[in-house]
Amino acid sequence: MFLPGVKHILAVASGKGGVGKTTVTVNLALALAQTGAQVGVYDADLYGPNVPLMLGVRRKTSRKGMVPAVRAESQPYIRPLERYGLQVMSVGLVLGDAETVLPDPMFAGHIIRQTLQDTLWGTLDYLLVDFPPGSGEPQQTLVRTIGWSGAVIVTTPQDMALMDTRRSLGLFQAANVPIVGVVENMSYLLCPHCGEQIEVFDRTDRAWDAADSNVDLLGRVPMHLTISQRINARHPLVNGAHETPETAPFREIAHEIVRKYPR
Ligand SMILES: Nc1ncnc2c1ncn2[C@@H]1O[C@H](COP(=O)(O)OP(=O)(O)OP(=O)(O)O)[C@@H](O)[C@H]1O
Ligand SMILES: [Mg+2]
Repeated sequence: MFLPGVKHILAVASGKGGVGKTTVTVNLALALAQTGAQVGVYDADLYGPNVPLMLGVRRKTSRKGMVPAVRAESQPYIRPLERYGLQVMSVGLVLGDAETVLPDPMFAGHIIRQTLQDTLWGTLDYLLVDFPPGSGEPQQTLVRTIGWSGAVIVTTPQDMALMDTRRSLGLFQAANVPIVGVVENMSYLLCPHCGEQIEVFDRTDRAWDAADSNVDLLGRVPMHLTISQRINARHPLVNGAHETPETAPFREIAHEIVRKYPR
């Protein structure tokens, strides 16, 4: 095991930023936890470490947890934070809010991996890793040096995002990391009156097609005001008890992950 006690390490990645990768990561983590699994989230996105923000964990309230403690075998470690039943750690918490000078990309990969390994994760069925967007460095280093069980690729329907998606798929495939599947975020609008699914983005011929690639489409998440409202309120959608048309895709994707990667 790459991390003691952690059964499946899954990257949540995208070819470019802003496609809703972090939104999908935290909602999917909560949906997985609702299946009864022990779930952790590691925010590896050094360039936009938004997981703490979206889950409402701040460094001010976590400093005690950040002090390196000593394991039985005298290895220093960082205790993860807990929120909504999830174990949470972020490279952003290690660097701090005011850190403006980022390390060079090669070095960044090693900082991100080392922080992951220095975190004392409990026993987890799934650790979702919010992966930095893109396919250069530090992404290449991370793909090669972490023991991934698989990668979930997040995309949006626009053509350019789809081209970036192919690159992101290629990054993991080149390193023989299994692709869990693709999540299409902001896939359609849900009519607030009648519940009709309205296509917003033009799907061109060049669009990625689940049918002619060997990659599964895990699910389509609608563009919906409550998704962004709940994220802004640091209270992700799937943390609510009841199922709505917006939460259903996250739960379906979670069940598909559990089917592919039994806990
Ligand atoms: N399905 C959705 N419906 C409505 N709003 C969404 C949806 N998905 C994401 N958003 C909103 O879009 C914005 C970008 O999402 P998010 O920060 O998750 O993207 P990201 O890919 O992680 O971006 P970055 O590359 O900057 O880390 C956020 O304000 C979020 O609330
Ligand atoms: Mg993000």
